[in-house]
Amino acid sequence: MTETATSGAQRQTWTSNRGFILAAIGSAVGLGNIWRFPGVAYESGGGAFLIPYLIALVTAGLPILFLDYSIGQRFRGAAPLALRRLAKRAEVIGWFQTMLLFIISVYYAAVIAWALSYFYFSFGNQWGANTKTFFENDYLHVTEKAGVSTDLVAGVAWPLAAVWVLIIVILALGIANGVEKINVIGIPLLILGFGALVIRAVTLPGATDGLNALFTPNWGALTDLNVWIAAYSQIFFSMSIAFGIMIAYSSFQRRRANMTSSGLVVGFANSSFEILAGIGVFSALGFLANQQGKGMDELGMSGPTLSFVTFPAVISEMPGSVLFGVLFFGSLVIAGFTSLVSLVVGVSIAVQEKFGLSQRTAAVTVGVVSAVVSFSLFATTTGLWTLDTVDQYANNVGVVLSAIVMTVSVVWVARKGDLLRRHLNAISTFKLGRWWLVLIGVVGPIFLTVMLVQKVIDLITDGYSGLPTWYLNVFGWGTVGLAVVGAILLTVASWGGRDDEDFHAWPSEEFLEGQKR
Ligand code: PFF
Repeated sequence: MTETATSGAQRQTWTSNRGFILAAIGSAVGLGNIWRFPGVAYESGGGAFLIPYLIALVTAGLPILFLDYSIGQRFRGAAPLALRRLAKRAEVIGWFQTMLLFIISVYYAAVIAWALSYFYFSFGNQWGANTKTFFENDYLHVTEKAGVSTDLVAGVAWPLAAVWVLIIVILALGIANGVEKINVIGIPLLILGFGALVIRAVTLPGATDGLNALFTPNWGALTDLNVWIAAYSQIFFSMSIAFGIMIAYSSFQRRRANMTSSGLVVGFANSSFEILAGIGVFSALGFLANQQGKGMDELGMSGPTLSFVTFPAVISEMPGSVLFGVLFFGSLVIAGFTSLVSLVVGVSIAVQEKFGLSQRTAAVTVGVVSAVVSFSLFATTTGLWTLDTVDQYANNVGVVLSAIVMTVSVVWVARKGDLLRRHLNAISTFKLGRWWLVLIGVVGPIFLTVMLVQKVIDLITDGYSGLPTWYLNVFGWGTVGLAVVGAILLTVASWGGRDDEDFHAWPSEEFLEGQKR
């Protein structure tokens, strides 16, 4: 079993290119699109955010997506194995990415659990008149100050348990029978449900005020580096790139599959969905402002609470609100779930390959360990604090660092950039010119490094969200530190009895040599 699952030749595959595309879209379209994007856009200059966002999409999003695809498809492994086959010392980058996946999955699951509860609360608008008090006190029982608590919140713990059990079952079923199926069912459902919701939202009174807030560019924000870094990290998070997960997903692609065209489809679908979600959410916010006779900037919302505090308020104000609430939280659950599947698959395949486990053993082990961490940190009364902090550091520092190190190592240290370009061009219809190497090798790393340095300085001097320093050291920098230390430990651990002798990349280097263009 082990060898079947890991060796190049008999690796399990998606049943079709459509299956891969749906799974990749399922990974990309998630809480990031519905829960995170509108909040980040709102906090980062509203309309002005779209410009850095689109620039980030073209200069880093699509190019790094292609890079992930080429590494996975050519070297046929989750990030650690695939990067190791690319260059032995690159394995550690794969583990750093895998650690980030693990860290994100444990809080991501908690947000899905909230959405599941809110799906239920939608029947009869159970959040009442004061949605903020309901969310923070009645539902989460959040402590007044950031800290560490071991008090489990039953209302979060139960749906969270359901989420993890389902995840373990799907993973144990495997790529084609579990992961692909859930996406083939989930994605069309999501498009229908969310489409209906957006149509309803834009026809609400006041919707145009909301849309103006989203689309009116505030040029001043463009000079703020924080807005740029927020845009790049949103692109990474949203497209699921530089986390190793797209490497794992494309390692289950057939060797002849056309990758770049699929990448364009996935990238376009994800950003369309994201902007659609922005349109839906901002229209609804415009409606709320209109009903309450307030300006958009007086709604008093902040990132992580937008979906759970501001949106329920919108729903309560609406005629026919039950359907709207059910569609919104139902979409959040489906979108989030298909992404969580990918996060945990990334970790589980990496562990399976390294330690020579069977797919089931890896799925259950990784699932159970993640669930325990997820419970102890995020189903407690301090969960909201921890979640916001971990999200901030993992995404604005962790993944940006991952993207820089991966691109520089592949292009400049291992010098495999052109090989990967020819690999993609040999099998794909959308051809990449040398501009691709310039983007991943020069433009991307320079932009990202400038932003990362600035962000780190900001976090060191100003902290985050007024939280105490000890807290940020433990849960913010601690998150980044954990990813680094975990990556090193997992890299030095020995490979569980597998032998890479029989691995041959296809098409061969000699063949690709002849394809120079
Ligand atoms: N792309 C997902 C979203 O937008 O919600 C989140 C995500 C999934 C991030 C998988 C990273 C990842 F590897």
